[in-house]
Amino acid sequence: MREKALTKHQIELMRHSGEIMKQIFIGLRDVIKAGISTKDIDRWVYDYIVTHDCKPSCLNYMGYPASVCASVNDVVVHGIPDEETILQEGDIVSVDICVNYKGVHTDACRTFAVGKISPEAQKLIDVTKQAFFVAIKDLKAGNTVGDIGSRVQTFVEANGFSVVREMQGHGIGTHIHEDPGIPNFGKAGTGYKLHENMAICIEPMVNMGSHHIVIDRDGWTCRTRDGKWAAHYENTMLVTKDGVELMTLEDDYVE
Ligand code: MF3
Ligand code: CO
Repeated sequence: MREKALTKHQIELMRHSGEIMKQIFIGLRDVIKAGISTKDIDRWVYDYIVTHDCKPSCLNYMGYPASVCASVNDVVVHGIPDEETILQEGDIVSVDICVNYKGVHTDACRTFAVGKISPEAQKLIDVTKQAFFVAIKDLKAGNTVGDIGSRVQTFVEANGFSVVREMQGHGIGTHIHEDPGIPNFGKAGTGYKLHENMAICIEPMVNMGSHHIVIDRDGWTCRTRDGKWAAHYENTMLVTKDGVELMTLEDDYVE
C-alpha cells in the first residue's frame, strides 16, 4: 500500500478528524458505566460521528458490522458490539474507533474502567498507556519501526505483562491501514525508517498473561488464549522532523 507523505490539506483534515476523536473519548467517560451494553457504546459513537460531519471508518470495513470495536476483559481487540454484552462493575472495555473526515482517517483506542476495578486491572491499563508514551518519547523522522517495537516490548515485559504478536500499529492517511506495519516488539534500529509528514498509529496491545491469542468463530473477536485480561491504547500521530504531533490525544490529558 502507498506510503506517501501527507499534503498540507490532508494534514488539516486529519487534525479535524482527531478533534472529533478527542471529544468522543471525553464524552465516553460519562457514557461508559455498569448496566449499558457494548451496542449502547457503538450507537453513541455512531451518532456523535455522523452529527459532526464525519463517517465511522470501521463500519463495513472488510465486512466489519459496527462503528467501534468494544473489547471487554479477555477480548484483546475487534470485539463486536452487541445488546447482550452488558458492562459490569469491575470490567474493563477497550473502545477502538476510526473517524473519517472528508476521506482522511484517524484511529485511536482507550481502555476504560467500568466503575471500581481491581488494582491488577488498573496496572494493566496504566502499563499499556505508559508503553505508548515510552514508544513516542523523542520519536521523530529517521527513527525506525523497530525502535518503537523494541521500546514497547521492553517496557511491557519489564512490568510482567506480554505484547500481542499478531496485531500491530500501522501507517494511516486516506486508508485506515497503510504501510508500514508497526509491531509492538522488535529490535531497535531495524525495519522501515519513518519520514517527515507521514502519519502513523502506535497501539500497544498488552496481555496480563501469555501473549497468545485466539479468534472467535465470528472471525473478528480476538481473545487471550489463557482467558486473562488485555488492554489496548492507541493514538494517530504525524511524524515531523523533530518529533510527533499527536492528533487524537485528549487536551486535558495528564501523564
Ligand atoms: N483500529 C482497528 C485496527 O487498527 C480498526 C478496526 S476497524 C475493523 O485494527 F473494521 F477492523 F474493526
Ligand atoms: Co489501529
